Amino acid sequence: MQLQVSLCMIEPKRDRHSPGGRLRWRYTTLWTHEQLTYLGHSAFLITTLAGDILIDPFLSGNPSASIGPDDVHPNYILMTHGHSDHLGDTIGITRRTRATVIGPAELVTYLAGKGVSNVHPMHIGGNHVFPFGELFLTQALHGSSVTENGHFINTGNPWGSVVKTGERTIYRAGDTGVFFDTELIGRLHPLDIALLPIGGNFTMGIDDAVEAVKMLAPHAAIPIHYGTFPVIAVDPQLLRNKVESSTSARCAVLEPGQTR
Ligand code: NI
Ligand code: MN
Repeated sequence: MQLQVSLCMIEPKRDRHSPGGRLRWRYTTLWTHEQLTYLGHSAFLITTLAGDILIDPFLSGNPSASIGPDDVHPNYILMTHGHSDHLGDTIGITRRTRATVIGPAELVTYLAGKGVSNVHPMHIGGNHVFPFGELFLTQALHGSSVTENGHFINTGNPWGSVVKTGERTIYRAGDTGVFFDTELIGRLHPLDIALLPIGGNFTMGIDDAVEAVKMLAPHAAIPIHYGTFPVIAVDPQLLRNKVESSTSARCAVLEPGQTR
């Protein structure tokens, strides 16, 4: 049995999703056992009382990575898609840790073929209760593939995801452009944190991310997938200015290695 204690602030908030903007109470978690650590690019580590979840561990060869692949000891690895800046060190880390890889069915089938022994395939629209909390899969407008010895292997559809740990609800858009169904994600899952790509070129840029924040209505937005390479170099403070001047969300720009 686990005892979880969180410090919360309770405040009234207009529900923008219901007719007439009904007033509801909003719980803002001020302190948790859980920690969300940005590892650079699109990689995160969520530590919970029920295990550590590593997300898209692109650490080797990532100029913005705050740690190396040998510094992490996850129980789970959550994949969004097969591109090398997300698949990253997944195979090597699972060899060392036996972490369970949760990912799109096609991608985990590919990984199982590479000797990854613990996999949990899922797909868009699906949800599952893990020891660390409940995971919901959402769509992402992007591709998913692995290039191997010059050959192109399709690894299915890419994902976004919502993870509810019991302490916080975190949406991670994955690599995607903005889309109107984002509004439904915010309606189904009142969010503490939204992790959104802002670098453009491969994903949405800053202005589209601001639109996503308006639809998601999270307590806080955190930018990801920018600055790692020259083609996705943008100023995250621009996102912060636009989000905080045009929405009720706060925007936290995390340096690699910073925890929230
Ligand atoms: Ni990608
Ligand atoms: Mn990417």
